[in-house]
Amino acid sequence: MLRLDGKVVLVTGAGNGLGKEYALAFAERGAKVVVNDLGGSSSGEGQSSRPADEVVQEIKSSGGEAVANYDSVEAGGKIIDFVIKTYGRIDILVHNAGILRDKSIAKMKDEDWDLVHGVHLRSVFLITRVAWAYMVKQKFGRIVTISSSAGIYGNFGQANYSAAKMGVVGLMQTLAVEGKKYNITCNSVAPIAGSRLTRSVMPDEMVDGLKAKYVAPLILWLSHPECKDSGCLFECGAGWIGKLRWERSAGYVVRKRGLPMTLEDVKENWDKICDFSDSHHPTNIHDANAKYYATLEVLDNNDESAIKLNKTSSAPSSS
Ligand code: NAI
Repeated sequence: MLRLDGKVVLVTGAGNGLGKEYALAFAERGAKVVVNDLGGSSSGEGQSSRPADEVVQEIKSSGGEAVANYDSVEAGGKIIDFVIKTYGRIDILVHNAGILRDKSIAKMKDEDWDLVHGVHLRSVFLITRVAWAYMVKQKFGRIVTISSSAGIYGNFGQANYSAAKMGVVGLMQTLAVEGKKYNITCNSVAPIAGSRLTRSVMPDEMVDGLKAKYVAPLILWLSHPECKDSGCLFECGAGWIGKLRWERSAGYVVRKRGLPMTLEDVKENWDKICDFSDSHHPTNIHDANAKYYATLEVLDNNDESAIKLNKTSSAPSSS
């Protein structure tokens, strides 16, 4: 049985829904859990200590160890200070707290954008920045940012939310790069589960069927010392888990040696630019940029292999 004894985990927004299930699951595996929750409405109004207290109570009555924290995640590093004061260390961060302020783009107010970004994205930066120093020192850290299919694919009325939810994927990818030499991993999960957030958009049988406990084991695995994967994005719900990756078409060099690149060059080659039949899957920024360097090499350095550029994926690639 995989255990997390001795590990200290902060789960934000753990008073309800998915976060609550993550907190219960961490405690069941022996972790000490800081149950953070502001206790406001699903659109971010009000506050209450009750949701966090109830989860802590549930954990304690099952023999687990937990403490409540009622700060808004916008308080950032203050929450890590609380964790350190309480348990003396921080090993795992699950950035789960969330609200919705859905409106179509023309009707979206500045405050709808700012609050959603403050809760979903800026807080992840603020909390992680302070936790990072502890994780570097102990040469261990596991960070999970919570994304959404609304971010990955877009969704009507969720410009603020989808931008923030892809923001945490970009942030995750850089944390994975920066954390590599310190045994700090960072991954993102786009979950789906019935909760008060999804009740308004899902039929009742979906809300009941898509249980949060069908997501929690993935969050625990990504937080476990044995899991070394980092920089990955997963979708998870109903017991199904899938991994996403970038796919890039082989592309097409529309510029010709010694000639200006024109609008017509782009239009005439549009189908080839967008053709995925010979695609590849860049896994890091160096891998991705290799294509540009190869193109410059061939077009501007008088390299006679230029002819090959558009016939094969001549830049190094990985799949
Ligand atoms: P939920 O509304 O049941 O739980 C969210 C919790 O976050 C609440 O307890 C709330 O009090 C807390 N919270 C909100 N603002 C906070 C703040 N400023 N500081 C601290 N706590 C705060 O929602 P659910 O569905 O469990 O969502 C959890 C996460 O999963 C969110 O990030 C959400 O965007 C994400 N997600 C959920 C999906 C779903 O199908 N339920 C789909 C995709 C993403």
